[in-house]
Amino acid sequence: MNIEKRPFGEVCGKQVDIYTMTVDSGASVSIITFGGAVNKLLMPDREGKLADVVCGYDDLKSYTEAAGYQGALIGRVGNRIGKGRFTLDGKQYQLYINNGENSLHGGKVGFSHKVWDAEANVCGDACVLDLYYTSPDGEENYPGTLKLHVTYKLTQDNALSITYRAETDKKTIINLTNHTYFNLAGFASGKIFDHEMWMDADSFIPTDKGLIPTGEIRAVDGTPFDFREAKKIGRDFDLSYEPMAIAGGYDHCMNFVKREQPMGAPRIVVSEQSSGRVMEVYTTEPCVQFYSGNFLNSAQYPFKGGYPQGLQNAFCLETQRMPDSINHENFTDCTLDAGEKFESTTIYKFSVK
Ligand code: BGC
Repeated sequence: MNIEKRPFGEVCGKQVDIYTMTVDSGASVSIITFGGAVNKLLMPDREGKLADVVCGYDDLKSYTEAAGYQGALIGRVGNRIGKGRFTLDGKQYQLYINNGENSLHGGKVGFSHKVWDAEANVCGDACVLDLYYTSPDGEENYPGTLKLHVTYKLTQDNALSITYRAETDKKTIINLTNHTYFNLAGFASGKIFDHEMWMDADSFIPTDKGLIPTGEIRAVDGTPFDFREAKKIGRDFDLSYEPMAIAGGYDHCMNFVKREQPMGAPRIVVSEQSSGRVMEVYTTEPCVQFYSGNFLNSAQYPFKGGYPQGLQNAFCLETQRMPDSINHENFTDCTLDAGEKFESTTIYKFSVK
C-alpha cells in the first residue's frame, strides 16, 4: 500500500493537491483537495486488468468552471431546495439560486468548490485520506458554523468508503453526499445502458419541471424505477414515462426499503458483464439519488485524455436524505442541532464475477 501526493494546481492563491492511494491489488484512488473530488479510480476487471471507472478532468480549471460536480463532495445541502427558500425555527432563509429557480448542491460556492485541508496515512489495511473544511456561519446564507471532517478510505479488499462527520454551533440543515460518475467498463466506454443494477428501493420521488419534489412518494411497482430484481439500466429507460420525461432519464431520489439500517448488506449492486466488474453500495443513508448522467454533454469540458462527455455515459449513486426535505413534512429529517454530531458512511465495494 502506498500514498503519493502531488500538486494539482492553484485556485485563488491556494495550492490544490492530488493524493493517490494504492492498495496491493493495484486498485487505486486519486482525490483532489479541490472539492475533495474523486479524480480517478482504478479497479481490476476479471483478468486483473485495471481501468479507470470514474469520470473526471485532467486539469483543475475544468473542475473550477464546469457544471456537473465531477467526483465532488456535495453540501451543505446536496440536491435541490425549491426556490432556494426554507424556514427554520420561524426564521426564513434565502439561498443563492443557481439552477433555474432553485438552489442546487450548496449554492454559488458549495463544498464541491472549496479547497479542503488534507492529511493522508496508511493505517491497518487501509489508505486513509482525512479532509477538513469549516463552513462559516452564514456561508451561502445557511445558519451555523459547520465543521466538516470527511474520510476517504481505500481498503485492501478494493472498497472505497466515505465517512462524513459534521457539527454545528447553531441549528442548521445538511445533506452531504458525493457526486462521482461511474462507468464500470471504464469511463471512456460509452453508454451505461448494459450495466445491470439491483437496488433495495421500494419508492421514489417524482419531481416537477425544475426537478423539485412534488411531495409525492411513489411506489416503484410497475414503473421503470423498480430495480428490486436486477435488470439492465437501459431496459426500462423510457422517456415517455412522465417522471423520466421531465428529468431526461433517471434523476430521482430512490428510498431504501428499510430507511435506517446498519451496514450489513448492500443496498445497491451494479455489474458490468464485459469487464466482470461489480460494485456494491453499502450506506447508512436512507436514500440515494440515482442520476443517469442526463446532462453529461458539455463539449467544452472533455474528460481525462480528451474523452468527450456523452449523455448516459456514466451514472451517479448519491447516497443522501430526501431532497428538499426541509420543505416537505413527510420527508426525512435534514436538520442538525447545535452540538449534535452527524455521521454517515457509504462504501463502494468492487469485486469481479
Ligand atoms: C442532480 C442532477 C444535476 C446534477 C448536476 C445531480 O445530483 O440530480 O439533476 O443535474 O447533479 O450535475
